[in-house]
Amino acid sequence: MFPLWPTAASTMSDRVDALYIFLIAVTSAVTLMVLVLILVFIFKYRHTRHPVAEQVVGSLPLELTWSIVPFVIFVIFFAWGARIYVAEATPPKNSLEIYVIAKQWMWKLQHQNGVREINTLHVPMDRDVRLTMISQDVIHSFWIPEFRVKADVLPGRYTTIWFRANKTGTYHIHCAEYCGTLHSDMGGQVIVMTPNEYNHWLSGGGEMGSFAETGQKLFQSLGCTNCHRFDTQGRGPNLVGVYGKPVLLTDGRSVIADDAYVRESILNPGAKIVAGFRPIMPSFQGVLTEDQLLSVIAYIKSLAVSEQREPVSNRPPVPERSSGVEVQ
Ligand code: CUA
Repeated sequence: MFPLWPTAASTMSDRVDALYIFLIAVTSAVTLMVLVLILVFIFKYRHTRHPVAEQVVGSLPLELTWSIVPFVIFVIFFAWGARIYVAEATPPKNSLEIYVIAKQWMWKLQHQNGVREINTLHVPMDRDVRLTMISQDVIHSFWIPEFRVKADVLPGRYTTIWFRANKTGTYHIHCAEYCGTLHSDMGGQVIVMTPNEYNHWLSGGGEMGSFAETGQKLFQSLGCTNCHRFDTQGRGPNLVGVYGKPVLLTDGRSVIADDAYVRESILNPGAKIVAGFRPIMPSFQGVLTEDQLLSVIAYIKSLAVSEQREPVSNRPPVPERSSGVEVQ
C-alpha cells in the first residue's frame, strides 16, 4: 500500500502524527461543512422561491458564534502545537551527545569517543540523543522524517535537535534547505541499533582518540594552557568546572557557559569578558575548523565533570596513533 506518511520510529512521531491528523480532520470537516452549506443554500434560496433577497443587518449572537468558535479551535491548534514544539526544543538531561557538521554536500557526524561518520549516523534505541549542529558554509537543514525532527543547520551558530528512537532499523536523513547544486544528493541514513549492538559498534573508538582528547591536544598545541591553567587562576580563567555554569562578566551580566558561549569566547574573545580578567586573548577566527572548535568545546566540557570523574587533562597523554584518512 502507498504509505501516507513515514514510518514512526521515535517517541515524538506519534505525538506529531496525532496533531497532524487532528489538523487534517478539523480542516476537512470545515471544508465539508462549507461545501454542503453552499449546495443546500443554492437549493433552498433559489430564485424561483426567493425572488427578492432578505437582508440581515447586525446580529450579535451570529457575530459572537463565528468569532468564538474559530477562536477556540485555533487556541487548541496553538496549545497542542506549542506543547510539541517545547518538547522538541528541550533535550532531556544526560542525552547522548553527537555533533553534526554540514557542508556542501554532506553530513559529518562525530561521536564523543572520536568515531566519525559521513552521511550515516548510528544511534542506540531507547536512548535520548542530542545533536549539536553547525554548518561550514551555507544554511542546510537536518531532517529525519521517521523521527519527525528537523532543524536548520546554520553557519556560525549551533542549533540542536534531540530524539529518542524506539524502533530499530534504517531511516532517512535529508537536507531540507536548498543549499546548492547537489542539495538533492545531500542525505544519508540513520541506523538505530539495540544498545548492545551500538556499544559494540562504537567500541572501536576513534583513530585519533576521543573527541575531548583531540580538543585537549589542540588546547595544548595552541598554547591555551599558558593562560588557562588548571592549578590556579592564570591570566585567563581556570576552565575546570566552568562548562554549564553561570559566568559573571565584567559588565555585570551573568551568562551560562554553554557551547555557544565557549565558541564565541574562542572566536571573538572580546565579546564577553569574565569579571576579574583583562581582554588579552587573541581571536582564533580562521585558525580552527568547525570540527576542531567542537573538539575544544568537548574538552572544556570534559573539564566540567571533573568533580565526579578524572578530567582528561590528568590522564597520561594519549599515544599518537597513525592518523586515518579523514574526509574534509
Ligand atoms: Cu544541504 Cu540542502
